Amino acid sequence: MKDALLKIKSLANDELSKVNDTKALEEIRVKFLGKKGELTSILKQMGKLSAEERPVIGQLANQVRTEIEESITNRVKEIKALMLEKKLKEEELDVTLPGTKATIGKLHPLNIVLNEIEDIFMGMGFDIADGPEVEYDYYNFEALNLPPDHPARDTQDTFYITDNILLRTQTSSVQVHVMEEKKPPIRIISPGRVYRSDAVDATHSPLFHQIEGLVVDKGITMSDLVGTLELLMKRLYGDDCKIRLRPHHFPFTEPSAEVDVMCFNCGGKGCSMCKDEGYIELLGAGMVHPKVLSNCGIDPEVYSGFAFGLGLERIVMRRYGINDMRLLFENDLRFLNQF
Ligand code: PHE
Repeated sequence: MKDALLKIKSLANDELSKVNDTKALEEIRVKFLGKKGELTSILKQMGKLSAEERPVIGQLANQVRTEIEESITNRVKEIKALMLEKKLKEEELDVTLPGTKATIGKLHPLNIVLNEIEDIFMGMGFDIADGPEVEYDYYNFEALNLPPDHPARDTQDTFYITDNILLRTQTSSVQVHVMEEKKPPIRIISPGRVYRSDAVDATHSPLFHQIEGLVVDKGITMSDLVGTLELLMKRLYGDDCKIRLRPHHFPFTEPSAEVDVMCFNCGGKGCSMCKDEGYIELLGAGMVHPKVLSNCGIDPEVYSGFAFGLGLERIVMRRYGINDMRLLFENDLRFLNQF
């Protein structure tokens, strides 16, 4: 019996040295020390022993039990230490390694220049107004003194939703909204999308952006218009930039002008960029027509104003030397990342 006990002890130690997870350890505990374990089954045979042998074997059995228990406890500690070490190794973090850079988006060139233009006008005391892209015929045409037979109303040029509702063809519609809501002094710009039924090419897109400007107050003259536009262009294109006004016609301004900016490429001498003109057309402008003022409830005998409409794409293209408008809408990151 003594031999059997000693054999159990060495067997247990043997098995313990081989395990390396706590679950297997528990199995060993049950196998050797459990109610149906090996040690118990030997103790059950104690009855067969003589009175002298019993205490000796009993003591030995207790000793074996204690020793196995101790071995298990020690092994548990060792295994836990090993597992911790393994976990620490796996989760090792070298804070000195360079991090992965987050890819941050950037502004589209249209927005870069728009932000700049907004800043310039806010510096002159202008507010920024917003208006609907789906518009009533009244705001887009009628209130702006565009008679029903005006060619701009042609379905060739305009996206109609119903006979009376359309996608705005110009931000000038916002002039009417602003003048209906607010009495002079008025000083606003209104950037936004406009739509025309044009086929896509290097200089046309059915969707593009305009920035409308409107100033209405007592004593506003054409020289206020010229001064404002000159300042804008000098800020955008540099102090030596010159502008030129050519007579034109818009139904909602009188007099009207088209405004050209000196070609930044050749400085006015004429080159391929400006088609030998020396100047590049950038916007339409003029003094707000008295009929438009009175359509909006503003007395043209008391107040006068100027308005202008800039094409944002054109300004951006001139600014960066972009020769194809489609580049601004194709969302090709190889192009957009350059700004
Ligand atoms: N709305 C005109 C256009 O789209 C531009 C313009 C605006 C002209 C304001 C005069 C005054 O061509």
